Amino acid sequence: MVFKMKIIGFGKGIPARCVSNDDIAQFLDTSDEWIFTRTGIKTRYVCTTETLTDLSVTAANGALEDAKLNPDDIDLIICATLGGDYGTPSLSCCIAEGIGAKCPCFDVNAACTGFIYALELASGFISSGKAKNVLIVSAEMMSAKTDWSDRNTCVLFGDGAAGCVVTAGNAVKYINLSSAAMPNSTVLNMPNGTGNSPFTKEQKSSGFLHMQGQEVFKFVVNIVESELKLVQERTGLSPAQIDLFLLHQANKRIIDFTGAKLKQPPEKFPCNIQRYGNLSSASIPLLLFETVKSGQIKPGDTLLLCAFGAGLTAGTCVIVWE
Ligand code: ACO
Repeated sequence: MVFKMKIIGFGKGIPARCVSNDDIAQFLDTSDEWIFTRTGIKTRYVCTTETLTDLSVTAANGALEDAKLNPDDIDLIICATLGGDYGTPSLSCCIAEGIGAKCPCFDVNAACTGFIYALELASGFISSGKAKNVLIVSAEMMSAKTDWSDRNTCVLFGDGAAGCVVTAGNAVKYINLSSAAMPNSTVLNMPNGTGNSPFTKEQKSSGFLHMQGQEVFKFVVNIVESELKLVQERTGLSPAQIDLFLLHQANKRIIDFTGAKLKQPPEKFPCNIQRYGNLSSASIPLLLFETVKSGQIKPGDTLLLCAFGAGLTAGTCVIVWE
């Protein structure tokens, strides 16, 4: 398998309002102690006046500047999201308008795994010669998707966008995508309504994100383990040969559990969940962005990105940083 791709620029768009666990405990039966010990989260950022398009365009412009490219240099925009500001146009079309690009664009919805799905799609366009530079933006407004009276979900998520430009190169060594459909998607879903069609037998309104946390927790620890086994089988890389594991930031306990199971030290598992909460598809690109910019990732380092989320979906990518 040849991926022929490298990342050449990053950007991010984060709302101005930071919400602490104590802020939430003002109106919900919860506490900083419960949220922090069960999840590792201290704060998250939440949109007040910003739209998801605003965050995404900020992330896209940051990535273009970092890559020293103009909007005209971008041949394709892929946006990973659970949904933008509109059902249509897609969020990627809103980004194209915001940055002044005229290339093809589309959204991909693989929930928290979206960034890895977008990387795989980008590699197909680059390898086939259809695109030279692809802009990927992962963006989520989870504050609009969770029920703020449901303590099981709203405390876990945050809003934000992270983007990167990918182009031809040899950094990406491996990508695997998978899914495991659960019965009626009951463990993790967000139902759409039926609208007001007079022909539907049973009218249903749209719902908030619903999650059976413990069921998802079990799925996640198993899928991460099997994804990591596949990496070893297919690339020959053992956990000890991976310099940094960038796991989806859903719960610090999942990250710690994985580290202990692999017998790898906590320093190999960078985290930003304590500041941002779970940003769904934007978690991994934001973590990658911050870890690169802080100097924690150096050229030659072997990185393993592993994401998991609704679907249920999972995806893994190995990058040797250039
Ligand atoms: N504050 C206080 N108490 C709470 C809160 C809260 N915010 N939320 C739940 N509780 C209570 C529950 O009501 C329950 O009380 P009870 O025992 O009286 O019934 C108790 O705490 C335990 O609840 P659990 O759900 O069993 O708590 P758990 O330890 O499993 O933690 C959590 C819940 C954090 C959601 C965990 O299960 C988890 O992280 N699951 C995986 C999430 C994940 O990985 N998601 C994937 C990506 S998301 C996506 O794709 C969109």
